Amino acid sequence: MRLSTSDVAGKKRGSGTNDIFEKCRNFTRPGDLQSAGLYMYFEVFGDREGCGPGEVRIGKRKVLMFGSNDYLALITHPKVKEAAAQALKKYGSGCSGSRLLNGTLDLHVKLEADLAALMHKQAAITFGTGFQANYATLSALTEKGDVMVCDHNLHASLVEGALRSPARTVRFRHNDMEHFERCLENCPPEEKILIVSEGVFSMEGDIADMRGITRLAKPYGARVYVDEAHGLGLLGANGAGAAEHLGVLDDMDIVMGTFSKSLASVGGFIAADRTVIDYLKHTARPFVFSASLPPASVAAAGAALDIMRHEPERRRNVLRVAQMLRDELRVRGFSVLPGETAIVPVVVREEMDLCRLCKTLLEQGIYINPVLRPAAAQNLLRISCTAAHTEQHVDRLVSTLVRVISELGIEI
Ligand SMILES: Cc1ncc(COP(=O)(O)O)c(C=O)c1O
Repeated sequence: MRLSTSDVAGKKRGSGTNDIFEKCRNFTRPGDLQSAGLYMYFEVFGDREGCGPGEVRIGKRKVLMFGSNDYLALITHPKVKEAAAQALKKYGSGCSGSRLLNGTLDLHVKLEADLAALMHKQAAITFGTGFQANYATLSALTEKGDVMVCDHNLHASLVEGALRSPARTVRFRHNDMEHFERCLENCPPEEKILIVSEGVFSMEGDIADMRGITRLAKPYGARVYVDEAHGLGLLGANGAGAAEHLGVLDDMDIVMGTFSKSLASVGGFIAADRTVIDYLKHTARPFVFSASLPPASVAAAGAALDIMRHEPERRRNVLRVAQMLRDELRVRGFSVLPGETAIVPVVVREEMDLCRLCKTLLEQGIYINPVLRPAAAQNLLRISCTAAHTEQHVDRLVSTLVRVISELGIEI
């Protein structure tokens, strides 16, 4: 019997070596960590009914949360919840359309005007997530013949945006102004330059040298893009972020922010000149070809923005608690990265030690995120402080950490 061509193809294809799912079957790392009892991801949290400030629920247990980016502790604020509930009641659960067509509500327009004013820009545009905002903007705004000069430690959303763009990308050593200047000098004069940095770096929690960046950028006619995901709500006289804190907000050409951290919701935004925003509104594909933010999310972000404006003591409290924690940990010999933001990263040399540490802390009722290389240059216990944390919380965290480190025999 002779096999037909399709039989042969079928046999070959069925043999298992050319199955597109093969990589999934070979992807055993999560399972290996689970078997070792060290898997730290997809923890399931319950509702927060009956939880105190700074607490969340896992199963029946209340756990002290030191891993949330809800920096101003507004997720459960009555005004934020009420704004979301009212929007749900009045507008329904979604918009069922792109902003470009049937998906723009008066709620979106009002929030965008408020964000533009906060960032001292002519206009703003909201996206479904902060990731989308970065990815969409970098990929829409740059073209062949342009160059993006980027800090080395950028968030994945910025990296993906740069990868999607036909422009050239150059990365300067993290926050290193000498190297940054050399990168600028090496750009051919005909290239149009966009400089990209985070205001507060998401893993290490340090602040970008935005003053140095703007000073060096000016002679090159370069435009500056800052991601304020972790600075918004915390830094600056009005909580606009690191650029405001450093007195260079007006020198930023594009400010990006997210609602998923200080603004207690989901979504992202870009603030810039009106011409830039109009361009993005019509050309940024993840904006044009995706449904708009639902009313409840927009209203929650708007209410959080309002509280942020009227209660500056919230950001002062977060920064005070974070500094207290930094000081206490350093006194006890922990290696804490330098910084002055809500993010307090502690270096734990060995990856397995970090996983064991996080697991044991959770058993002791404290949740903290592990950051494993290469997400950061070193393995980090990334502690994030919020306005809900108190001195007592800091004491409990520090004493538990000291005890657990010693019990597990982890070198710090
Ligand atoms: C620096 C930075 N930019 C952007 C994002 C994306 O924000 P979102 O969670 O709203 O998608 C994050 C989120 O972790 C971030 O840390």
